[in-house]
Amino acid sequence: MINAPSIANCDLLDLGKQIEELIAGNATFLHIDLMDGHYVPNLFFPTSIVKAIKTKYPNVIADVHLMVSNPHDYIDLLKEYGADYVSFHIDSTSFVIRLLTSIRNKGMKAGVVLNPSQKIDIVEPLIYYLDYVVLMTVEPGFAGQKFMKGSLKRLDELDKLRKEANANFLISVDGGIDYSNSIASIKRGADILVTGIYTIFNQPDGLTNACLRFEKDMNCIYYK
Ligand code: DX5
Ligand code: ZN
Repeated sequence: MINAPSIANCDLLDLGKQIEELIAGNATFLHIDLMDGHYVPNLFFPTSIVKAIKTKYPNVIADVHLMVSNPHDYIDLLKEYGADYVSFHIDSTSFVIRLLTSIRNKGMKAGVVLNPSQKIDIVEPLIYYLDYVVLMTVEPGFAGQKFMKGSLKRLDELDKLRKEANANFLISVDGGIDYSNSIASIKRGADILVTGIYTIFNQPDGLTNACLRFEKDMNCIYYK
């Protein structure tokens, strides 16, 4: 199980210090949302955040979630800046397989993101070309929303598709993750939990303790 704190939830005026606290809590897989104000109605983090993080903390795995209208345009730059995982929304390009292949050819892990309204079986033709699928459990664009009804059923469907195809892509869940839906998600096959305000941030004992606690509690379930 991978705890992937979404740094969109950090205090922006204290970003570096908070990233260090996450790393001290073994959370070295950081989820980085990039929003362009077109695909989603919000602007957030420039691509250079990846460079800043990877330069200062080379051991961090940078998991970039592109919420942009022209995902092809960012791949070269993200590679140059050190991104490790790059996912994009399945409806943000007509050439999904071309983009997945281009991300992989540059040595990065390639993923597609499904919004809550998108059919799970859309992933089926892509299984040979991707390393992970991000299942949105909220509509993308803003941190701090509630995990949507129906998400666990969708997770069941995706895990079933993975098993039936004998595929080994990872499943990441993003949006409104709390303790209860984390446990339920792991039981249904989730490998990566994108964590935010309900688990890691805004906890009274700080980010490091929250990460260590979450990792310990969830790994018990993941490896059961
Ligand atoms: C939603 C983002 C999420 C978000 C997760 O558009 O993709 O990564 O920041 O954090 P929470 O669960 O707190 O909303
Ligand atoms: Zn995200």
